[in-house]
Amino acid sequence: MTERCGALGVLLCLILLSSSQALSKRRTPIMGWSSWSVYSCNVQEDGIKVQAQALSDLGLWDLGYTYIDVDDCWMAFNRSAEGLQQANASTFPSGMAALAEWLHARGFKLGLYSDAGTTTCQNRAGSYGYEAVDAATYASWGVDLLKYDTCNTVPGWDPEEGYPIMGKALNNTGRDIWYMMCNWGQGDPATWAGPRALANSWRTTNDLMPLFPQFYEVADANERWWEYARPGQFNDPDTLAMGYLFADPPVTAPATGNTLSYAETRLYFGLWCIMKSNLILSVDFASSEWPRWILDIVSNRHAIAINQDALALQGHRLWSDGEGGNNTDPRAVHVPAGLREVWSGPLVDGDVALLLVNRGESIATINATFTLHGPHCPKDVNVSVYDVWGQRVFGECASHFAMRVAPHDGILLRCSCARPATRPARKGKDRGDHAFVTQ
Ligand code: GAL
Repeated sequence: MTERCGALGVLLCLILLSSSQALSKRRTPIMGWSSWSVYSCNVQEDGIKVQAQALSDLGLWDLGYTYIDVDDCWMAFNRSAEGLQQANASTFPSGMAALAEWLHARGFKLGLYSDAGTTTCQNRAGSYGYEAVDAATYASWGVDLLKYDTCNTVPGWDPEEGYPIMGKALNNTGRDIWYMMCNWGQGDPATWAGPRALANSWRTTNDLMPLFPQFYEVADANERWWEYARPGQFNDPDTLAMGYLFADPPVTAPATGNTLSYAETRLYFGLWCIMKSNLILSVDFASSEWPRWILDIVSNRHAIAINQDALALQGHRLWSDGEGGNNTDPRAVHVPAGLREVWSGPLVDGDVALLLVNRGESIATINATFTLHGPHCPKDVNVSVYDVWGQRVFGECASHFAMRVAPHDGILLRCSCARPATRPARKGKDRGDHAFVTQ
C-alpha cells in the first residue's frame, strides 16, 4: 500500500489505510490441514500432533501445507473465572500456547476456530462480546489463523457489522493472523467482505460433502464470485475432505468408505487450485486406510504452483456445452454450467491455467481454440501446453487442440508462450493478456 501511495498523495493514502484492514499479509491462499472432517468434535492434542508429524513425513510440509487448523471443540464449554476462553482441559491438557510452540518448532502454524455467537456450533464458548479479549488471547498463544463461524448469534446480529469487530480486534494485536470468515455464504460475503477487505477468506457455501456431484456444486457456487478474489482475499469453498472420513457423529460427511474416485479427487483438487481456494486437507493421515494415491494428487508441484501463483486471481468457467455456455467472450462473467466445461485462470508471465472438465457419464472430447498473444507473447508463436497431472509437455499448438477427458475427470493444463516476448511485459497488463475460446 505505501509503495502505491506516492502518486496519490499522503492524505488519500491515509484514508485508504484507515478504510481497509491489514489482516494477514500473505498474498496467496493458505495451505494446510483441518481437523473437522477427520475428528469432528473428538479432536485431541495428541491427534493434532500425529497429523502434523504425518504431514512432515509425507513431504506435505515441504510443499507448503503448513497451517494446522484445529476446528470446533478445542475449547471448554465455559470461560475461565477471568472471562477468558480456555482449552478443554481433558482433550488439550497442555493448552494452546504449548501446542502453538510445538507446531512452530516444526515450522507449522496454528489455526483455531471460534464463533461470532454466544456459543459455537458445538455449544462451546463463543466470542460474542469478547472479541478483543479473545483476539488478544489467541495472539498471546501464538495463533496464526482464526476460522470464525456464525452459529448461535444474538438476534439482529448483522454479519457485515459483526465480522469486522473480530477483524479489527485481530489487527489490533499486531500479529499476522489469517482471518477466515465462515458464514456459509449467507448474504453473499464476497460482495461486502471482498471490497472492504474484511477478511482473508470467506466461505461461500454450506459444508462440503465429499461426494460427486456435491463437491462440484460447491465449486459452482464458489466460482460465481471469481471477480471478487484478489491477493490476500479469497473465496473459500471449504476444505479438501478426501479419503476415508471418520467423523463421529458424521456431521459433514458420510462416516465410512472412500467417497471419491481417483478422477473425481483430481477434478476436486484441480478446481480448488484454479479457483485460488485455500488448500486445507481434511484427510486422516494417521489412519492406515487413506488411499495413497491422494498423495500423488495433492503433492503435484505444478498444480500447487497454479494455486500459489503470484497474480493470485481466481480462475473461472469460460465455456460449457450447457445452455448459454458457448459464450466466446473471454470477459464473460457468468458462464452457465454444462456437462463439458473449460475453466481458465490467468497466471504470471502471461501463462494461463486451464481445466478441461467432463461432468458426464461417458468419455468426451473437448476442443480448445485460443491465443496467448499479448505483451508476453509475440504474434504467430505457438503455445506450449503442459499436462499438469502427467507432468509432461502435451504438445505445442498454433491455436487449437483437442483432448479426451474421462467421466468425472478434470485435466489441468498450463499454457505458455513457446517463445516469450523479449521485451518485458508492462506492469499491470497481465489480466486479459490472452484470449481463449472453445468450440
Ligand atoms: C460449521 C462449519 C464447519 C465446521 C463446523 C464446526 O458451521 O461450516 O466447517 O467448522 O461448523 O462445528
